[in-house]
Amino acid sequence: MKKPLAFKSAVLFSAIIIFCHPLKKAMAQKHSEEAKMNAFIGGLMKKMTIDEKIGQLNLVTGGMAITGSVTNNGIGEGVKKGSIGGIFGLYGTADVRKMQEAAVNGSRLHIPLIFGLDVIHGHRTIFPIPLGMSATWDLGVIEQSAHIAAKEATAEGLNWVFSPMVDIARDARWGRISEGSGEDPYLGGKIAAAMVKGYQGSSLKNADAVMACVKHFALYGGAEAGREYNTVDMSRLAMYNYYLPPYKAAVDAGVGSIMSSFNVVDGVPSTVNKWLLTDLLRSQWGFKGFVVSDYTSLNEVTNHGLGDLQTVSALAIKAGLDMDMVGEGYLKTLKKSLQEKKITIADIDRACRLVLEAKYKLGLFENPYKSLDPKREQTEIMTQANRQAARTTAEHSFVLLKNENQILPLKKTGSSIALVGPLADNKRDMLGTWVIGGEWEKSVSVMEGIKHLVGENVTINYAKGSNITDDTTFMKRLNFGPGMVSLDKQSPDEMIEDAVKAAKKSDVIVAVVGESQSMSGESSSRSDIGIPQSQQRMLKELAKLGKPLVIVLFNGRPLTLTWEDEHAAAILDVWAPGTEAGNAIANVLFGNYNPSGKLTATFPRSVGQIPVYYNHLNTGRPYTSGPTKFKSDYLDISNDPLYPFGYGLSYSKFTYSDVQLSKSQLKGSEMLTASVTVTNNGPYAGEQVVQLYISDPVASISRPVKELKGFQKVNLQTGEKKTITFSITPQQLKFYNSQLKYDWEPGDFYIHIGFNSADIKTAKVSWAK
Ligand code: BGC
Repeated sequence: MKKPLAFKSAVLFSAIIIFCHPLKKAMAQKHSEEAKMNAFIGGLMKKMTIDEKIGQLNLVTGGMAITGSVTNNGIGEGVKKGSIGGIFGLYGTADVRKMQEAAVNGSRLHIPLIFGLDVIHGHRTIFPIPLGMSATWDLGVIEQSAHIAAKEATAEGLNWVFSPMVDIARDARWGRISEGSGEDPYLGGKIAAAMVKGYQGSSLKNADAVMACVKHFALYGGAEAGREYNTVDMSRLAMYNYYLPPYKAAVDAGVGSIMSSFNVVDGVPSTVNKWLLTDLLRSQWGFKGFVVSDYTSLNEVTNHGLGDLQTVSALAIKAGLDMDMVGEGYLKTLKKSLQEKKITIADIDRACRLVLEAKYKLGLFENPYKSLDPKREQTEIMTQANRQAARTTAEHSFVLLKNENQILPLKKTGSSIALVGPLADNKRDMLGTWVIGGEWEKSVSVMEGIKHLVGENVTINYAKGSNITDDTTFMKRLNFGPGMVSLDKQSPDEMIEDAVKAAKKSDVIVAVVGESQSMSGESSSRSDIGIPQSQQRMLKELAKLGKPLVIVLFNGRPLTLTWEDEHAAAILDVWAPGTEAGNAIANVLFGNYNPSGKLTATFPRSVGQIPVYYNHLNTGRPYTSGPTKFKSDYLDISNDPLYPFGYGLSYSKFTYSDVQLSKSQLKGSEMLTASVTVTNNGPYAGEQVVQLYISDPVASISRPVKELKGFQKVNLQTGEKKTITFSITPQQLKFYNSQLKYDWEPGDFYIHIGFNSADIKTAKVSWAK
């Protein structure tokens, strides 16, 4: 029976009321909280002197973390004077309490300090480096790692972390590629949001929540030639379509703060770039938090050629930089600039208000000591549960690059293994870059992990085999901290001889090689991204024996591995796995966990191919393999990378069906579903990352050959099959056009689904507006 119209609208009306009511309530609550905050901060700011306001903008280092030549002295006095707004690099409840008490009891207005630190992939319990973590393609695992880091950090008095680092990087020479999530804006955005959620939790007031700081805004990963701190020069289209999305995703996820980058954006250093920090970030994206400079990046604007410290500090405050890290440009010059009318009090007030708001949102005005419970410090750090989570995350992050004749997994009984390489019996290098709170003595070496797993059932013949590097000049650069890399007492030849002897006695060789801790990360660009010569020499001697050679590869970046790919039977990429390295590696080598990690940055064949990334444009003369002239290619090498984006093998064998589409013609906001059936035809249960790519072959601008638009991780028993379905709406077809308008254009699209960016099946669809 037809219902009367009045009845229908009544139902609709009450549905709207029911639907809107909780929403309205939440909005009203938010507004009243905001009003309360504004009233409180407004009242406080009325009492503040200009010096005290400028003091809030001054972030100093407590001395435990230093990445530049400048450090701060006399911190205690500064805190009492009100000339310091926050401290980073200081943690531990006793030390933090001392400083917080100095601020709250000793300063005129009792304003609490904010305490920050570079907590990048775990605080005390170290997780895989971010590039490795991204290879899990598992947002739940990533969010959990950030949450555990937040719990440990708050247990030591911290309330602010300088993470996530979301800089897109297409150049593996750049050492900081290790700190991000690789080359893809879509995946990078998802990971950025997951990390912000993991750190900040449901409320910043929670005892175990920290404020995140997304960095480095912006485009730092686009440094020319992959050289650290170098110039970035990029079109607005490249920015908007490829490099900016992860920062925006972090902003949309509610990140509380942002760090400006060292580089220039459109010729203007980020730290003083008004277009970047105000027009884009605040006006276009609606960011409401505060912006902090990078370590002395404000002072460095002078080197960029924009004037002396007073000039660049005035530029920065006007551009929208709120807090000055370490360099004291604001502290030393803003008052003078105000007196000289180069800036206004409104500029200082804006920045001061945003810093105070952050403290308010963290609940520090209510309880400045909220993270200072010494009991938590004793019970919540490096717990078994945290270590277990780090181990599982590491297992999920490993990428199996090669596995000839199913040499892996290794047998758990009755065999002998030559365990060789400078990273085999090594604890320090398990952790990777940026581990300020990490204690390498507590990490598990590969040797320990293997012995722990197989005990006496497998004979282990160990030899170090080589130094990390024999090049003493290079070694000096790597040793920025004590004892990072050293030369063995034995000569390189003697070491290789020992490794060969161990190998001769064994059924299989497991060589644990690659980059040490300080070979990637900040200030660690490399022009040659191969495994160091000393280790290659050892590998070459071992390969001559004709025994199966398994490489366990440590790396903070994609490496060039053409020789290794040809000569090793298997390569397991473990990045820098963190505290539980050895246990996780043993579990994967011996088949307790079937590898499922997938690359998030393309592995080039040689440095000459860089930049090499999967979502490139087509060019007018697209590459075709084979010796054709006048194509976009090289004379001496193929365009194809060694291992493409999204690549990673399993011990099992997965297959997938053709792509099934719900429709082939669509219009407007209709939804398309695309599916494939994935089958595990191999002998092991395992996980597979099913990846959705879309290409837009005709548009108003040249579009990438394909772009990642979705992914799902599926777990299948042997013989099991599952249908994986992706929902696609015009939202996934959008891009920034020449007018920087974000929209989609009607026409044909290719929908690709597969197991990596080069292994896909395709179906075509037409979409009208
Ligand atoms: C790095 C940042 C880091 C800061 C504070 C800088 O050198 O670029 O990533 O957060 O130091 O340690």
